[in-house]
Amino acid sequence: MRHILHVVGARPNFVKAAPVLRALAQRGTRQTLVHTGQHYDRNMSDVFFSQLEIPEADVNLGVGSGSHAAQTAEIMQRFEPALLTYKPDIVLVYGDVNSTVAAALVCAKIPIPVAHVEAGLRSFDRTMPEEINRMVTDRLSDLLFTPSEDGDLNLLHEGTAAEKIHRVGNLMIDSLVRLLPAARNCPRNGFPDRIALVTLHRPSNVDNSEGLRRILESLRQASERIDIVFPVHPRTRQRIADLGIATPKLHFRDPMPYIEFLSLQTRAAVVITDSGGIQEETTYLGVPCLTLRKNTERPITVSMGTNILIGEDPSHIAAELDNILDGKIKQGTVPPLWDGNAGQRIADVLQSL
Ligand code: UD1
Repeated sequence: MRHILHVVGARPNFVKAAPVLRALAQRGTRQTLVHTGQHYDRNMSDVFFSQLEIPEADVNLGVGSGSHAAQTAEIMQRFEPALLTYKPDIVLVYGDVNSTVAAALVCAKIPIPVAHVEAGLRSFDRTMPEEINRMVTDRLSDLLFTPSEDGDLNLLHEGTAAEKIHRVGNLMIDSLVRLLPAARNCPRNGFPDRIALVTLHRPSNVDNSEGLRRILESLRQASERIDIVFPVHPRTRQRIADLGIATPKLHFRDPMPYIEFLSLQTRAAVVITDSGGIQEETTYLGVPCLTLRKNTERPITVSMGTNILIGEDPSHIAAELDNILDGKIKQGTVPPLWDGNAGQRIADVLQSL
């Protein structure tokens, strides 16, 4: 491949693209980086670029926030002229955010070949916007890079030709392996030794005030046993403030930079989350993870890793937390190809085309 264009837009994209950009740069490949601007706050975007050593984007489309339709449409409108200007040989899109599906649609219609990184994941729950994004992006892609065997099986089951699928492993783990030493050296920032770490941002958990109030009430109770650190996504910040639930051992914080957050994950007694990537990171680190969802597109974190799906009812947190704090901990292993070399494997495939 002579010229590769990458599209990133939101926080998890940055973590996945960094190892691919690095592996291709080592081989002298011509690359262009487009940032859609879906995430734009300093601590949701710039900090990730600097800590992950991602080169400055060649273009920032500056789309910002909006409804799903408005954001997706805006990305498509602004991306098409950029794509026609750069005329790459292939476009790489990452993960399952609105930027991913919007860019894939534009490519498919010009057409310019598109490769989906982190292909084949399915929660089989179409109420999740990310599931729609994953299905459509996979359908439109010419090349599908999967993180684990279940990804291959889902794609084959949907009729994707086997020769398009390349199992390369998990890119999030590439970034984690690379920055783990920095995370282990990170100062404790005044947090106590033993903490539970919480991240919640899925609409199903945080967009309804009654649901969020019940979650916070469960966390307040849990904080009687352990200090809880909760970096809050910008979308949820105001909603939490309005509910006025405050207690000294429940620490709300702004979204954290990658290394600081990884450092907290390595030290956490347990992580409570609804994020996809964090289910994977805790599995790699061997840290217990309670996922506040009724399904996951990353089932390998449950079958092999430390992840436990506890459903959407926050009253389940207390019993599971008690088990963990009493030493009854689910043991896990690291899935195959989650080894820090997924970016090199993608570069190998692209180089062979
Ligand atoms: C997006 C992804 C989600 C991913 C998450 C990681 C989609 C459909 N969802 O969700 O899969 O797990 O990113 O963080 O793409 N906002 C800011 N500053 C920012 C970005 C967002 O204040 O830099 C606020 C805005 O109020 C915005 C809201 O967050 O309306 C939602 O942002 P958006 O990018 O649409 O989705 P996320 O919830 O971040």
